[in-house]
Amino acid sequence: MGIQGPMKTRSGERVTQSEIHKVCEAGYNEVASAILRHAALKELEQFGEIISVRPLSHEDKAVFFGTIWAFFKDVPAGIVALAARVTDEWIREDMWNGTAKAAHILYASVDEYGLHQHSQHMLPTHHQMFKQLTTHLGLSDADLFNTHNILPEGTAMGNNTHRMYRSEFLGEALGFHLASEMTSSREFQYFLKGFQKYASEYGLADEDDPVLAFFAIHCEVEPMHVATGREVMISYLEKNPNIAPQAMRGAMAFMDGFEQMFAALNRHLGSSQSI
Ligand SMILES: [Fe+2]
Ligand SMILES: [Fe+2]
Repeated sequence: MGIQGPMKTRSGERVTQSEIHKVCEAGYNEVASAILRHAALKELEQFGEIISVRPLSHEDKAVFFGTIWAFFKDVPAGIVALAARVTDEWIREDMWNGTAKAAHILYASVDEYGLHQHSQHMLPTHHQMFKQLTTHLGLSDADLFNTHNILPEGTAMGNNTHRMYRSEFLGEALGFHLASEMTSSREFQYFLKGFQKYASEYGLADEDDPVLAFFAIHCEVEPMHVATGREVMISYLEKNPNIAPQAMRGAMAFMDGFEQMFAALNRHLGSSQSI
């Protein structure tokens, strides 16, 4: 059963639902602010600067897209796996609302899988948009899958994503997911701006060229994904406050890996810039 009405603490005082909600909101805020304070965001900002000072060469594009693909390829299935786990766990305690809770996670998959206008037709998935963009930029599968172009930090991020979304500790998976959504809402703005700035060098008709959909769509949907990630984490904390340290651990695992991936990209692109 979910938490209903006033509860008693160990000392016997009554605590209302809204007081519990406030404490859980504070727990969420702690994780969210640790994400925003993390040095990874500095690396991301630096990456944004690198792609804004010059267009990327073919080789740099191959390294950038090859590396982020090694990470991004694991995101959609990770989200679906997490939604299934939330459903399974919640349904045991609150049968009628398990799917409703998991819906907050699954919502992000609707975008990943191109389902948000399903009543009319299926849209391209995020992965298909990635492929359209990289094909336009002259990158073949051989470029993207060439191990010379994939920095090991990108592969590590993909492996972490696969593992953490399926972590035996649900709190870790939720923290990891939240950090993923919070960083997405920033990183795609840098990507989009950098590529829009050199539209003609990248063979784009203009800043709004539809082939940039992979970047543009994330700028649109990510704030909503952060909101749903927040929602489900607060609900989980209300149900089980003990997950707070797990959530922090999962969020920091994401941020550490993200920092390493962008630091490696910055080193690589920064050094090829000065040649
Ligand atoms: Fe996506
Ligand atoms: Fe997202």
